[in-house]
Amino acid sequence: MNLKDLYIDFFVSKGHKQIPSAPVVPENDPSVLFNTAGMQPLIPYLMGQNHPFGPRLCDCQKCIRTNDLEEIGDSTHHTFFEQLGNWSLGDYFKNEAIEWSFEFLTKVLKIPVEKLAVTVYGGSDKIPFDEESYNKWLSLGLPKEKIAKTVEDNFWIAGESGPCGPDTEMYCWKSEEEVPEVFDPEDTRWVEIWNDVFMEYYMDVDGTISELPKKNVDTGMGVERTVSVLEGVDDNYKSSIWKEVIDLIVSISGLPYEGNEKSMRILADHVRTAVFISADSIGIKPSNTDQGYILRRLIRRAIRHAKKLNINVESEFLGDIAKVIIQKYKKYYVELEQNEQIVLEVLHDEKERFNKTLEKGLKEFERVIKNGQDIDGVSAFHLYDTYGFPIELTVELASERGLNVDIEGFNKKFLEHQELSRTASSGKFKGGLAGNSEIETKYHTATHLLNAALKIVVGPDVHQKGSNITEERMRFDFSCDHKLSDEEKKQTEDLVNRWIKEGLEVIVSEMSKEEAIKSGAECMFIEKYPDVVTVYSIGHVSKELCGGPHVKNTNELGTFRIKKEEASSAGVRRIKAVLE
Ligand code: ALA
Repeated sequence: MNLKDLYIDFFVSKGHKQIPSAPVVPENDPSVLFNTAGMQPLIPYLMGQNHPFGPRLCDCQKCIRTNDLEEIGDSTHHTFFEQLGNWSLGDYFKNEAIEWSFEFLTKVLKIPVEKLAVTVYGGSDKIPFDEESYNKWLSLGLPKEKIAKTVEDNFWIAGESGPCGPDTEMYCWKSEEEVPEVFDPEDTRWVEIWNDVFMEYYMDVDGTISELPKKNVDTGMGVERTVSVLEGVDDNYKSSIWKEVIDLIVSISGLPYEGNEKSMRILADHVRTAVFISADSIGIKPSNTDQGYILRRLIRRAIRHAKKLNINVESEFLGDIAKVIIQKYKKYYVELEQNEQIVLEVLHDEKERFNKTLEKGLKEFERVIKNGQDIDGVSAFHLYDTYGFPIELTVELASERGLNVDIEGFNKKFLEHQELSRTASSGKFKGGLAGNSEIETKYHTATHLLNAALKIVVGPDVHQKGSNITEERMRFDFSCDHKLSDEEKKQTEDLVNRWIKEGLEVIVSEMSKEEAIKSGAECMFIEKYPDVVTVYSIGHVSKELCGGPHVKNTNELGTFRIKKEEASSAGVRRIKAVLE
């Protein structure tokens, strides 16, 4: 059995409900581009909202972190990773969390106690030393020499504000050498594989710490690292996770892995992440903003490294690698198989686009550096703007020649030319109750009305495929096989506005799943809901399974306007609309 199945089975046996991985692109949280940790989709519940599946949850979440693209190419970093996690939402706390972590590591994964070490929160003027965790580890048989107390590294928060708390991190000895008697977290032969965060606080943007209504547990185990440790390899790309992909790259390039590690790892890593981004139901395409720009950069950097490996970049090598990845992961993520065609098209089209300018861009690059000088911001921007070279590509090309790039100068030009969204420019995770401002709440309710209106105007086969809300607009993806006519758009808009004027009451109720289905409540993935569900009804027009929040009456919404209607992916249309 593999790690993921062992983990989920273990926590299910301890009374946890398995929840599906959320999409990599957060559905209603414009403050982050991607989910970067398993806890992120659970923030509203960590803040106190009841989760429909109850207080004990576990899952394997798809995560993407692209802050340090330059680090990719070494043996341990990845832009995409899976994080296993178990959560207590105001249920158990340190005692059980640590006990189960220890049981899973030593009994299920059979890691010898001698090879384990932990860190615990050492205490600051604001938050005391975590004596409870320290004593718990001692009671389980860990000698005090293997329990390090640190402060900086034992307080966990996603970004700068949000739910947070002290944590205890678990390390495993991965070297052939003898295990030292005293644990030193700085010694890189110890690998951190798991983290139990005791989320009992909330940190404001100004750094003020307050208590959350409930004491929660948030844990995260990186699949890549743990599998490498269990398989005893010193390079993540040598573990079973990557074997088929690296074998394929070796075969299509005709080069050995040894000596070509960096480019092979980048190619493997970036294609995998591109596959997961483009397979998300939200329908991300390569573009020059937000997630689309990350996708573009990943594909282009992958192509450039393929070129370094002498791979014929005109061939369908990206698609071939993608197929191996889809095959490998489809058991866990059905969207990979469902959207395989879309993924292959995205990779193919972006490759064609980049290939048109790559050669010329490389020539231009040579021209810019012909006198051996560093690259100024204007030239870097020219390479981006005219030849589609993302900045890190230029930086990488330059550093291979021992040259620098004026990144600040580039960014200045870039910002001048580009209306970067709030998200991309801040690039930060803000946390908190995402999507709960007054206007966002209004958009939530308008989304239900739009869904109901489309079912009447276009037909009952319209189903929601995705939704994304910011302070500025709502976006709604739905199944539909044709472009909406002007007439259809107008009728939809009119209908929503009529319902707004009618002042329909929004009523929330809890009921069994069967009851909800019988009553005709609308829902995206019925099989993924628990036995008791929350249903929002809007007058006589809409009934949907939903976590909220919503306004109390539709007369709070203002006027609804459709701004754009376009294709999102095969058989899926997208509407962007505003409330004025
Ligand atoms: N959220 C914690 C982490 O990502 C568990 O390490």
